[in-house]
Amino acid sequence: MSSISGLVEDEISSFFESSPPLKNKEEVVAKLNQFIELNSSRQGEKRRIVCVTSGGTTVPLEQRCVRYIDNFSSGNRGAASTENFVKAGYAVIFLYRRGTCQPYCRSLPDDPFLECFEFPDAKNIRVRESHSEAVKMAVMDQQAAVGEGRLLKLPFSTIYEYLQMLREMATALKDVGPCSMFYLAAAVSDFYVPWNSMTEHKIQSGSGPLDIRLAQVPKMISILRSNWAPKAFCVSFKLETDSKILIEKATKALQKYKVHAVVANELSTRKEEVVVVSSSGNVVVRRDSDKPESIVEDNLIRLIVDRHSTYIKENHT
Ligand code: PMT
Repeated sequence: MSSISGLVEDEISSFFESSPPLKNKEEVVAKLNQFIELNSSRQGEKRRIVCVTSGGTTVPLEQRCVRYIDNFSSGNRGAASTENFVKAGYAVIFLYRRGTCQPYCRSLPDDPFLECFEFPDAKNIRVRESHSEAVKMAVMDQQAAVGEGRLLKLPFSTIYEYLQMLREMATALKDVGPCSMFYLAAAVSDFYVPWNSMTEHKIQSGSGPLDIRLAQVPKMISILRSNWAPKAFCVSFKLETDSKILIEKATKALQKYKVHAVVANELSTRKEEVVVVSSSGNVVVRRDSDKPESIVEDNLIRLIVDRHSTYIKENHT
């Protein structure tokens, strides 16, 4: 378990103290507790629970937000990983950026709702023949996962919402101990405009060039590991655009935050391969290029589940 310095702890406290409170906090906490309770007491069997974070956080520039800073993340990694975790028997809390890729929607067209249907006549609507298999599979798989209480989807948009929800989630999962996992694939903003120094109304363009000072968002992995959920298995991600520094940065993150594995990926090849960096060495994980349907997450989640199983055995109480 890692310990964090008083300075980092102060930065984290002041981030939360100055954040606008989560609007639907009671609802989020109630859903979380219900989901965890359901999956912790299934006929005496304790199901593993993973929190998958997905998509990018926004950084608002105005309190009554008109403009914000965003990032590229599509949410593909998180959505595909969620499907594989459900397949492996996990209950998944999918913490995702509104509007990004959803589990079971990969084989649907980009605008599923508008593209999937046709009107044979004024009174009827039906799924287009060309999409019917994909839509059927997506609807069945999604409804089975939700119906069996194995998928809880919670949306966020801003960095403030994401970090407060992550904290609620970690606190709620604390008692699940080693059977819980954090799989932090979301692209989290490193810089933000503190709420107190943010203008309330829309920034006026007539005032000339815009000068904004961005503060550093404290790295929350440290407190997640040391205080929020110290017994959970924790997988973080490292994204770089320069492959020459990727493994070195991932190795540093592994040591600094004392996570159990860091998934290192380079922006342009992230759908083909990743490297899982851990204390037992580095493993390159690729998609099966001879199978057109194969995605890197099929093999990645197999490896992560395997590592989690070993961790549970070693930490069995
Ligand atoms: O969504 P896709 O288009 O499919 O792309 C997937 C992905 C490339 C976004 C994903 O695979 C990925 O790499 N996600 C993490 C990207 C990222 O934020 O990397 P980072 O180097 O900025 O952060 C490293 C880790 O620190 C992350 O696990 C993050 O959760 C954590 N972090 C970051 C900022 C912060 N203030 N606190 C944190 O704890």
